[in-house]
Amino acid sequence: MASSLVQLLLFSCFISISFSVAQTSSKPKALVLPVSKDATTLQYVTQLNMGTPLAHKDFVVNLGGRHLWMDCDDGSYVSSTYKQSLCGSAPCSVAKATCSGACLPGHHRPGCNNETCYVLSENTVRGGYEVGDVSRDIIALQSTDGVQAGSTVSISDFIFACANAWDLSSLAGGAKGMIGLGRERIALPTQLSSAFGGSFRRKFAICLPSTSKSSGVMFFGDSPYVFYPGYNTSKAIDVSSRFKHTRLYINTIFTGSSIVIRGPPSPEYFVEVTSIMVNKKPIHVNSTLLEFKETGKGGTKISTVEPYTKLETSIYKALVKAFDEEIAVWNVSKVAPMAPFTDCYTIGNMGMTPLGVGVPDIALVFENNKNLYWEMYGANSVVEVSSDVVCLAFLNAGDEPVITTPIVIGAHQLQDNLLQFDLASNRLAFTSTLLWEEVECSNFKF
Ligand SMILES: *[C@@H]1O[C@H](CO)[C@@H](O)[C@H](O)[C@H]1NC(C)=O
Ligand SMILES: *[C@@H]1O[C@H](CO)[C@@H](O)[C@H](O)[C@H]1NC(C)=O
Ligand SMILES: *[C@@H]1O[C@H](CO)[C@@H](O)[C@H](O)[C@H]1NC(C)=O
Ligand SMILES: *[C@@H]1O[C@H](CO)[C@@H](O)[C@H](O)[C@H]1NC(C)=O
Repeated sequence: MASSLVQLLLFSCFISISFSVAQTSSKPKALVLPVSKDATTLQYVTQLNMGTPLAHKDFVVNLGGRHLWMDCDDGSYVSSTYKQSLCGSAPCSVAKATCSGACLPGHHRPGCNNETCYVLSENTVRGGYEVGDVSRDIIALQSTDGVQAGSTVSISDFIFACANAWDLSSLAGGAKGMIGLGRERIALPTQLSSAFGGSFRRKFAICLPSTSKSSGVMFFGDSPYVFYPGYNTSKAIDVSSRFKHTRLYINTIFTGSSIVIRGPPSPEYFVEVTSIMVNKKPIHVNSTLLEFKETGKGGTKISTVEPYTKLETSIYKALVKAFDEEIAVWNVSKVAPMAPFTDCYTIGNMGMTPLGVGVPDIALVFENNKNLYWEMYGANSVVEVSSDVVCLAFLNAGDEPVITTPIVIGAHQLQDNLLQFDLASNRLAFTSTLLWEEVECSNFKF
């Protein structure tokens, strides 16, 4: 009995080792990547070191993306450590990939042949898919103790998709593809935690900067989240003290771009907003619409690819009605729409506050709990389109075709907030604006 138990243990040990496809040079608890805002597209871009010799490559951050995909067909991917994945190999099965029949003529990506496996890579900005060969190479990231960035750590067999990406024009200038942080085994967060094992938690956090002038930060693994405010760069503030938590939902339909596919769980992140408040007063929305339903309809998605939060039309109208009523005390007047915004106001008597223009505050309430809300002030709720006009930074998503997800929280609303996604316990931790602490996402010490 005892020896067969030992054998069983050894066997399961072997299984878990052979499943952890990545190898590592040391065992950090957390890693960091910088993230910057592209002023033209409003996309968020991170820089990853890949290949041998290590080369910087820029990728658009796609919170709900399945994996890292990049254009390898332009001839610029040159790396002595690049590996293709042959049909039937462990990386192909981890990636849930399909075996390819042939390498199409004209493809110049390394390793392209008729026995490699491929995945479909989604360009969520342009819409549509690319075919990407499952590939492996070394990547390197900086480790962190949460207080500042530390030594560089590498992962030798990071799985990504070398795609036949013929059109990158929708992506921020210089970006080679997109980096997925979604719920998939080959998305960056899960690959990093399987590479480093037990003490590297299946968690990650994003802190998007509000301007293109300085970088924010993304954390992988678990650590404190220490920032140093501009007014005293020796003062360490761990912003996790501001965390509130709500449940993350798994959707059974994929709502990535224009198409909706029912099937395996979506790699995207959903929460359930149960009501919206303006100046602490609930607005009139149909709460049935907001509910997360078994069919995959309803609920609230979080996106780093949508620049502004999109609301189903009845919710948008209710928000504007309440906002108009509350903002009236500032003697503002409504002015012509400024695309993409429809509701714009003269500055009136509104002042500037440390949290942005002093507009009425908007809060997303979770779990029907009046005390569990994500507060948004001027910095996240409006855009200053000129020195005397601000526009509500929410968009009317319409109601045709049928909107499956009535609220999609976009990047403008995420800026200078820290959001932690805990994949093991399916919880979102959010800080609301860090400007309360006079902290910006660019205040992490790289
Ligand atoms: C791949 O192509 C080569 C050359 O055309 C051929 O000999 C080989 O049988 C093919 N392999 C598979 C798995 O189709
Ligand atoms: C800055 O913060 C450090 C650490 O909290 C503190 O010791 C120092 O007195 C502060 N400096 C100023 C000018 O407030
Ligand atoms: C609320 O929304 C649900 C789901 O969209 C719909 O079936 C219902 O008729 C709506 N109720 C009202 C009062 O509009
Ligand atoms: C309100 O705005 C109007 C026109 O912009 C101005 O004439 C008026 O004096 C303002 N009232 C107050 C109380 O500020």
